[in-house]
Parts: sequence; structure tokens; C-alpha cells
Amino acid sequence: MLSLEKQLNEKIKNIFKTSGFDEKFAFVKPSDRPDLSDFQCNGALALAKSLKQNPREIGQKIADELADDNDIETVSVDGPGFINIKLKNEFVAQNMNEMAVDSRLGCAKTKNPKTVVMDFGGPNVAKALHVGHLRSAVIGESIRRIIDFLGNKVISDVHFGDWGTPMGMILSQIIFEDGDLSKVETYDIEAISAFYKKANVRCKEDEKAAETARLITAELQNGNKEYVKAWKHLRAVSVNAVKENYDELDAHFDLWLGESDAHEMCEKIVQIAKDKNISEVDEGATIIRLPETNKPMPPVILVKSDGGFGYQLTDIATIKMRVDDLKADEIIYVVDKRQSLHFEQVFQVAKMLSIAPDVNLKHVGFGTVNGADGKPFKTRDGGVMNLKDLIEMSKNKVRSSMPKPDEVEGYGKAEIEKLVSEVAMAAIKFQDLKNTAASGYIFDLEDFAKFDGKTGPYIQYAIARINSILRKADESGAIQGKIIIFENDERTLALKLAGFENAVLRAGIDKEPSIIADYAYSLAQIFSSFYNTCPIMSAENEQVKASRLKLAALVRDVLKQALYLLGIKAPEKMLKAN
Ligand code: ARG
Repeated sequence: MLSLEKQLNEKIKNIFKTSGFDEKFAFVKPSDRPDLSDFQCNGALALAKSLKQNPREIGQKIADELADDNDIETVSVDGPGFINIKLKNEFVAQNMNEMAVDSRLGCAKTKNPKTVVMDFGGPNVAKALHVGHLRSAVIGESIRRIIDFLGNKVISDVHFGDWGTPMGMILSQIIFEDGDLSKVETYDIEAISAFYKKANVRCKEDEKAAETARLITAELQNGNKEYVKAWKHLRAVSVNAVKENYDELDAHFDLWLGESDAHEMCEKIVQIAKDKNISEVDEGATIIRLPETNKPMPPVILVKSDGGFGYQLTDIATIKMRVDDLKADEIIYVVDKRQSLHFEQVFQVAKMLSIAPDVNLKHVGFGTVNGADGKPFKTRDGGVMNLKDLIEMSKNKVRSSMPKPDEVEGYGKAEIEKLVSEVAMAAIKFQDLKNTAASGYIFDLEDFAKFDGKTGPYIQYAIARINSILRKADESGAIQGKIIIFENDERTLALKLAGFENAVLRAGIDKEPSIIADYAYSLAQIFSSFYNTCPIMSAENEQVKASRLKLAALVRDVLKQALYLLGIKAPEKMLKAN
């Protein structure tokens, strides 16, 4: 099916074509003045500029043609030349009926599907996921779902941090304490994390210790058998630990590759850079100097003076692998915006080396999760907040607003816990995704789990409420029927539904899930006003009732899909403590 907006665009395109106007200006957008019109076309203004004619005259010409269309109620030219269009109720209703039977809810698949590699998550060996990893997983997973839903092939890669100096630090700490690496395979994630923490302190205080860690890292990277064997265990234990976290967050990764997998390619990149005469040796390190832009551009360090490969080289090599092996048309990195200089440098070197021609490289940088003081969110004692603890805190909060197990029929401990988890995750994720990715936000346990206001649970609740309406209707034998628009609030609701595709498309283009979060919240609110003024079960007659039931079901389906795209589950029923 074609969405309302696309159908209207077709109509306008035809008029432009027959009038000999440039079709690139032939499109509408939802009206800025919903009191005047449903959609507006600003094409006359752009046309007038390029043709050096009067925009109002051009606008009038287009409007006159549009006025003859049977699907259009009114059309006017306002202000400097805006074309304001109001659609006939029948046309809007017809579109709703098509949408109601369309499995994609009016969202067409792209005609040019791309292979998109998504790099998010970015966990590190021996480090438990902390609050800093939350946004990458939440925003990354949502963008992954959006791009996939639009019809592209998405390959997500967790890009495990498993190859840098921290590896040598952990190994050297174990050797320091145990004398050798014979006990490594008995260590679990807690033990490994503890070694890493101690190593961090020791390497900061003692330059010799830091030097040993660097040497061990270099030897590991050069294939020292004993180190590689121990490292494999560290990596495997860490992967298992973060997999649990990502499962809980419902973040999906197709590939569990890491920085270490790029090692061989790193060597090749160094060679390519040499061959192309792009790199130079500076104080023992192999570097690439970048042209200064409007800000200072530090050089990219490919190989450190001790022979170790740097973080930047790893990312450059990984680009080449993703292009060569995965045939990526686009690579999207969902990483803290404090790393934006890193990505600028990496992308620039990729260009200089011609390893990713015609590949769109994009860094979606996000802001920090902050505490009430506006600084990055911390535990009570000032440490970094573990993701697990943060989720547990949120669950406790949600649990306190739920009935106890077996207080509600059919809800034993397992069912309550499932609901607690779904609501807590909705609260955490929506609080994150309602903000634009680039801005930071304050983690507010009080506000974000509320059932009213702009929260995840509010939208889950709206869905559950419609489910309950539909269940009751079903029990009373009422059936859904053709959608017909009678009242103004039905019309407003229908037009909002018709805008779903536009919201998904924009979110996909801008890599901005907040557009869908805004859309879902606004749709839930509009449904609420509709439900206040347009009774369903006590509607004036069966036809109206049947139409409203179907409209409500469509709202439910769109809200569910919107939540799915945000990575949020929609429970069939919601419960509240008495
Ligand atoms: N592991 C890195 C860190 O903790 C993040 C990785 C981000 N992704 C990337 N391709 N560089 O900072």
C-alpha cells in the first residue's frame, strides 16, 4: 500500500509533470498549521525562485489543478505561496482500512536496500558493563531494528575490546600475584575484573609495571603461545558475562568479533599506508599526519613505538574487513560522542587509503547518562554504576508498584517477574530514547517509571488499555468493521496514524530513535483524547462501534510496532498495586 503522504505526493508529481515544473519540488509534508490543513506543499516557493516567477501565482496554478481531485476537500494558497491541502474524510478512512490489513502498517520497504554494518555495544574484556554501555546498546539496538524494518540487510557486530594494553595489564597482574599463568583458567569474571582493577592502579603508580604490561601486550599481539592461551580464557569468560547483559537488554548481535580479529588486517593496513607513502615514522612510531581543518588534528598513530597496534589502526583495519568480507555499503558506529575525534580521524584515514570507496561511514555519538548533579551517573560511593545494578534498581522500583505474586489471578512469581522486567526495561529504554542521541540526560528513577507522562510504561499502559477494550468487545460479541470517519477526533487520530511511515523514515535517515519515541507518545495521547470524546462500546450505533474498534486495534498495532522499533516489549496486560 501507499501511505497517505506518498499518494498525495503522486498526485502533486503528476500536476508538476503536466505543468512542466521540476518534480524535485513536488512533495508535501504534514501541515505546520493543522487548523488550516492536513498537509502542505512548499514547492511553489522553490519553483518560483528557480523560475523567477511569482510564487503565489505558481501556487495558485497547482492549487487549481489539485482542487479538481476527488480525494481533496479544500486547497488554498496562503502566505507567500504555501499550498494548504485538506483531504476528504473518505480518502483518509480508505487509507486507514488499507493500513489495518497491511502487515507493514503502511511502511514501504526501501527500493534500494543496503548492507549496513552496525557497530555498537563495544564492551571490553574484564570490565563489567556499566552505565556508559547502556546508551550504546539501547540506541544501537533501536537503530538496528529501524534500519532492518525499512528493508535493509543489517549486520550487527559487538566489536569486543579484546586486544589493547588492558590485556597485557591483566596478564602481568596475574603473573605478578601468582608467579605465572598456570591458574588463569580457574578465574571467573569477578576474579578477572579484580585483577584488571588492581592492574590499573599499579600501572598508574609504577612506570615499570606499566612498561611490563606494554611489553606483554606486544608479545601477546605477536603470538606468544602462553599469553594467547591465557588471553583466550579471559576473552571467553568476558564474552559470556556480557552476553547475559545484552540478553537482558534484548540487544542483538550477529557477530561477536573483536579488535583481535582485525590483527592481521592491521599489518596489511600499515603496509598499504607505507606503499601509498601516506605514513611516516616519528620517534619510533608509525603515524599518519592529517590536514588541519578548523580545529587541530592530531596525527593518527598506526603502530606505537613499542610495536603495539593502536585503537585507531584497529578501527581502520576493521573498516576494510567489513567492506571486503561483509560488503558493507554503510557502517554505523553508536559510540559515546567523546570519541568523535577518533572517528573523524579513522574515517579520514580510510578515505586517504581508499579502503572504503562509496561506503558511508557514520558515527552516531551520544551524550552521557547523568545523575541529578548533571555529572555522569555514579553509585552512592562515587564509583561507576554497574549496568546490572542499575537494572536491578529499576526493577525494584517497578516491583514496588505491582501487586504481589498470586494477588492477581494467573500471576504467580514468574509472571510478575516477567512483567517487572518488561516494564523496568521499557522505563530505562524509553527514558533514554526520548532524548536525541547527542544530548545527555538525567537518570531519574522517580520519574521514568511512572505510568503517566512521557514514559515507556505510559505507552505500554496505553497498549494494554486498548487490549482490554478489544477483549471486552470480543466477549460482548462486538466485531470490528470498516473504518469510517465521523468525528473530528477520529480524523485527528487517523491522520496521526497515517504519519507512522514518515516517522520511521525520518528516524532511519537521521539515525534518531527519539523521532519514533515522540511519535508513539503523541499517538498514545491522541488516542486518549479520542477515547474521551468518542465512546466505543456505547457508540450511537453498530457501524460506529465497529469502525472505532478497528481504529483502536490499528492504534494498538502501530504503538506495538513503534515500541518494537525502540526495543521495548508490550505486555498484553499491565497490573497496578491496589
Ligand atoms: N571498547 C571501546 C571503549 O570502551 C568502544 C568501542 C567502540 N567501537 C569502535 N569501533 N571503536 O571505549
